[in-house]
Amino acid sequence: MDQNPPYTPAFHSRLPEVGTTVFTVMSTLAANHKAINLGQGFPDFSCDRGLISKVNEAMLADHNQYPPMIGVAELRQGISQKISTLYGYDYDPDIDITITAGGTQAIFTAILSCVSLGDEIVIIEPAYDSYRPSIELAGGKTIAVSLTANYDDQGSVKSYSILWDELAKAINPKTRLVIINTPHNPTGMVWQKSDLDHLASLVRSTNALILSDEVYEHMVFDGFNHISIASQPELAARSFVVSSFGKTYHVTGWKVGYVAAPAAMMKEFRKVHQFNVFAVNTPMQYGLAEYLKNADHYLGLPSFYQAKRDYFSKGLEQTDFKLLPASATYFQCVNYTKLNVPQAQMNEADFCSWLTTEVGVTAIPVSAFYAKPVESGVIRFCFAKEEKTLSAALERLQTLQLRKDNGTR
Ligand SMILES: Cc1ncc(COP(=O)(O)O)c(C=O)c1O
Repeated sequence: MDQNPPYTPAFHSRLPEVGTTVFTVMSTLAANHKAINLGQGFPDFSCDRGLISKVNEAMLADHNQYPPMIGVAELRQGISQKISTLYGYDYDPDIDITITAGGTQAIFTAILSCVSLGDEIVIIEPAYDSYRPSIELAGGKTIAVSLTANYDDQGSVKSYSILWDELAKAINPKTRLVIINTPHNPTGMVWQKSDLDHLASLVRSTNALILSDEVYEHMVFDGFNHISIASQPELAARSFVVSSFGKTYHVTGWKVGYVAAPAAMMKEFRKVHQFNVFAVNTPMQYGLAEYLKNADHYLGLPSFYQAKRDYFSKGLEQTDFKLLPASATYFQCVNYTKLNVPQAQMNEADFCSWLTTEVGVTAIPVSAFYAKPVESGVIRFCFAKEEKTLSAALERLQTLQLRKDNGTR
């Protein structure tokens, strides 16, 4: 129903600028046109049946009532152990770690727990689309600085970096929080130790906290390593670290993640968490706790996803799409402006709609990762798909070469 019935009182939107997220819009368009959906970031293959068995066992063992508000102890202990082993920071599982309904709730709750009216929150664009509305709902003001692309001699993007001068200017006494995302969606940029050290020098004499969104922590290729903020003790002491089992274990629909932070920050986080979701579903937590005991389940992800990235990028090389670096996450960004079809002149959102409805493959416009769309002719494909899905998508994308004359099928 477009119109409210007459008895619904008028009210002011808390988020007047916000519509439905681009991910939902593009997934709906993909479904309506039976396009191959390489837009929204989720796998189209099954998760490990062993993980499902562990959740089943938990249900059959009657772990079906409310869990502790902060999360099941076994899972928090497993996370603490994993972070300590991989990144060297010791979080107390009872005090410093809380299980959340996915990364998105962790981010929202972290923001609500520390941002007050008028506080400034620095984000780095392109940025995941939940950050800005979460900041607005908390009464904060978003200050966006940008990531910049570095080019090689042939004019191709070879890497990305933070504009440190811009970031330094953005951080001031009103800054309550700086949100970073590594590995980064959509560019795949991976923060290096020197980046974290640089950030530490910028916040050292301030009261700014950090939120480090690390939901793609286990998907890093080409010899890069994920360097968690938890591996930099000075920063860890002022940071919320967020991760997502949905991403790591191919179960995005389960919506289970976690946040780790020092005691004083976690105390405030939990005050909000208990009235936001209170707790996260019980059998999933028990199942994940058991599954987490085998490190191979996440240590195998880089080679698993690198093989998919390589397969997909090799196929794209047969087209006029220009590939951008994709050394982490499960996204491949491409520039479409050199395609020899008239639609190559379209803006990113229109191009993605056209690609969906006319070519049968869905992508996400990177302009959607900016508040004021920056048009650089770049779109994002998700390669977390079965080979047959990627192969079918490539076949359709390769037909673009045949359209050179009139741009139609
Ligand atoms: C950068 C980033 N942060 C957070 C999330 C949300 O994770 P979850 O699905 O666990 O809520 C996503 C999901 O796409 C993401 O790309």
